[in-house]
Amino acid sequence: MLDTELNVMGKMLHTNLGVNDEGHLTLAGRDTVELAESYGTPLMLMDEARVRMRMREYTETMREVFAPGSMPLFASKALSCKEMYRIAHSEGMGTDIVSCGELYTANSVGFPMEKAYFHGNNKTDKDISYALDCGVGTFICDNREELYALSAQAKDRGITQRVILRVTPGIDPHTHEAINTGKVDSKFGTAIETGQAMELIKELLTLPALELVGLHCHVGSLCFDSKPFIDAAHIMIAFMAAVREQTGKTLTVLNLGGGYGVRYVESDPEFSIPENLRLVSAEIKKCCSANNFPEPQILLEPGRSIVADAGVTVYTVGSVKTITGYKSYVSVDGGMSDNPRYALYKSDYTVLNASRAAAERDFTATVAGRLCESGDLIGEDMLMAKPQRGDKLAVLVTGAYNYAMSSNYNRVPRPPVVFIAPDGETRVAIRRETFEDVAKLDV
Ligand code: LLP
Repeated sequence: MLDTELNVMGKMLHTNLGVNDEGHLTLAGRDTVELAESYGTPLMLMDEARVRMRMREYTETMREVFAPGSMPLFASKALSCKEMYRIAHSEGMGTDIVSCGELYTANSVGFPMEKAYFHGNNKTDKDISYALDCGVGTFICDNREELYALSAQAKDRGITQRVILRVTPGIDPHTHEAINTGKVDSKFGTAIETGQAMELIKELLTLPALELVGLHCHVGSLCFDSKPFIDAAHIMIAFMAAVREQTGKTLTVLNLGGGYGVRYVESDPEFSIPENLRLVSAEIKKCCSANNFPEPQILLEPGRSIVADAGVTVYTVGSVKTITGYKSYVSVDGGMSDNPRYALYKSDYTVLNASRAAAERDFTATVAGRLCESGDLIGEDMLMAKPQRGDKLAVLVTGAYNYAMSSNYNRVPRPPVVFIAPDGETRVAIRRETFEDVAKLDV
């Protein structure tokens, strides 16, 4: 990219974005305006090479710095679709699934069930039975009731089920309250601090048909440094040493959850996954030797950091309205139905006028969706080259928790998800919903 282009676009957020000779925004070398014209809008684009690159950052670094058998599990809640499970499998990742819907999707494309880790704080008897039918490798158990229900079903089937217990290490990573899950006061897991986790482990070790192999914790989301993971690792390894002392059982797996952040806006820091994993590994080694505890296999559950910066959503602008003395609104043909994150968390995003990506970003507006709700916004005070009706507006870094959290509110059909392959070819991974799809469950 030319320097002048850099000046008008601001510093590019991610290296898979660019501007072509027509002044259009490109993703993975493809013209986003051209793709929007051929697939229609709203359109969700995914850069496959970027997804694979992020996966490799985890698989390769984890192989290098953690104990043998360590592995990343793609937290598929960030973007669950058949194509993502195919890609995750081909990159040697495991997967974290949180529902039977995700499990069904993974299983339907032959994702190896021994590498599936089944989460959830309220697995029903039916969920447990379905997951056992599928042959899920590991249950990440949340609570006492689940352990008893799973033990009974596994015993009936004459199998021994591999289990990891979710505990809360009592860490507050200072992210948004709603995505902060490692604290003692949480609906997830069982607290170490209160002594309840130790009690539950002692009870679990007496249950038939379950094999406890390790512990899980998840400290939060959107972490731009490794401190929460390092703090968690210290607490967890000391606790694993205490479990060994009190029960004689040496746990061999430590799952530190997901949560690394991604740059959504220029003010977010640059972030290197390999560098951070190295820091965590060094601390784990120190901590194991301080506790005289064998280095456990490490599992991580990255979701956002795998898919977020691979995604761009392209909309068509319908109107540009300036309220005299107040502010301007740019309305697009999607909204909270395909990206509810501003409505839910006031999440920051970067927008670009994809049709005029080389023009100066000198217009500030609130970007609004098309839904009948005033809170249906993509963001406020967003800077862009002034659009006009028909321009394509790109919202960057939408690969995680956008399509995954989409809805049919107002009976707006969901956009398609189109992957751009490393050779530049495009393929539809999820087709656009039709009105018939939207009404298909009505009787
Ligand atoms: N593991 C567990 C147990 C989790 O609860 C989560 C996210 C992850 C892994 C993946 O975390 P990640 O690497 O993606 O940060 N909807 C929110 C995010 C909710 C995250 C919930 N758990 C958002 O749009 O920001």
